[in-house]
Amino acid sequence: MICHGCSVNNYRNVESAQIEFADEVNVLVGDNGQGKTNIVEAIYLCSVGRSFRGADEAEMIKFGESGAQISVDFSDSVRKQNITMHLFRDKRRQVEQNRVKITRMSDMIGSLSSVLFCPEHLSVVKEGPAMRRNYLDIAISQLRPVYISALQRYTKVLKQRNKLIRDAEDDRRTFNETIDFWSDQLAAEAATIARLRVEYLRRARVLVASFFSDMTGGREVPELIYAGSSHDEEDMYLDAAATKAKYLKLLSENHDREIGAGTTLWGIHKDDITINLNDHPARVFASQGQQRSIALAMKLSEGEICREERGEYPIFLLDDVLSELDAGRRNYLINEIKGRQVIMTTCETLPVGDAKVIKVDGGRYY
Ligand SMILES: Nc1ncnc2c1ncn2[C@@H]1O[C@H](COP(=O)(O)OP(=O)(O)OP(=O)(O)O)[C@@H](O)[C@H]1O
Ligand SMILES: [Mg+2]
Repeated sequence: MICHGCSVNNYRNVESAQIEFADEVNVLVGDNGQGKTNIVEAIYLCSVGRSFRGADEAEMIKFGESGAQISVDFSDSVRKQNITMHLFRDKRRQVEQNRVKITRMSDMIGSLSSVLFCPEHLSVVKEGPAMRRNYLDIAISQLRPVYISALQRYTKVLKQRNKLIRDAEDDRRTFNETIDFWSDQLAAEAATIARLRVEYLRRARVLVASFFSDMTGGREVPELIYAGSSHDEEDMYLDAAATKAKYLKLLSENHDREIGAGTTLWGIHKDDITINLNDHPARVFASQGQQRSIALAMKLSEGEICREERGEYPIFLLDDVLSELDAGRRNYLINEIKGRQVIMTTCETLPVGDAKVIKVDGGRYY
């Protein structure tokens, strides 16, 4: 996958810019607040469908403007493609892929495949479960459109079910009449999602162990295990019927607990990945350096699985990560992603060998 370039209008602090990328390493260099991450965010938006900074659409539109536009040219092994996205303050975004309007984001996501490395990802081991679920969600979404649809349906059903739980005190009758319907839907989508997550994790953990040992040259072995909120062995989640039955049982037998908590207590929105190092929880026992090595290994695995599935590497987006790493890990990463397309940002000049340097100054790129 190669991103040839992008053109951006009224996006954050960028009034208008056309940027061409080299097929290998590209470095966006500039002082703080000049617009380096904005470009990475724009490309990621056309890849994954949302901002990695959690921004909503209006936030990404330049102050005082009514809309923004991003257009990205890229090629996969088969053909040249373009994704153009229009963001508006007062209506839904419009997306075109190869000049054809797209109505479902799941049709676009994964066309321009990418792996993002940013400083927050380096703490995936010690952060809360949401970040680890996000790791799986983003990676799998790019490979399996069915995953995106299931996740979207799950989120909708969860919202409905949570509302029903919150309203139960005032309206127990509606709760009693409809809760089973929502529980069934939720359990069904949860089973699909959990199965795809476990399948993915099983591939990732082999690669994570191998990258980790390569990087550290040590004897420690990291292991990633799916920790579903129903507390079953990982194997169960490969069996969609068993998973659905298990979640449905939990959701049916604990109404009072859920009403007390005011929310749905079981489901894939509560699942986690347990990360061990030599059989001990890495979150607690691994050193900060080891935790970072595991995080980098997880990201590199994401690129590797993408290549196994699609026959080519995704583009590697590195926002501010090199400066966060010590020399050993930095060199390992640079060496691993050699020969692939990289778009990275940095404030300082870093030793990355041959690279196209793009200077960034107040939303201008040259
Ligand atoms: N909606 C917006 N409209 C106009 N400017 C915006 C908008 N959103 C953010 N900005 C501006 O964009 C700039 C931040 O850009 P960006 O995050 O790309 O910086 P950066 O070069 O990556 O900086 P750092 O090195 O600190 O990470 C800030 O100056 C911010 O005020
Ligand atoms: Mg930045």
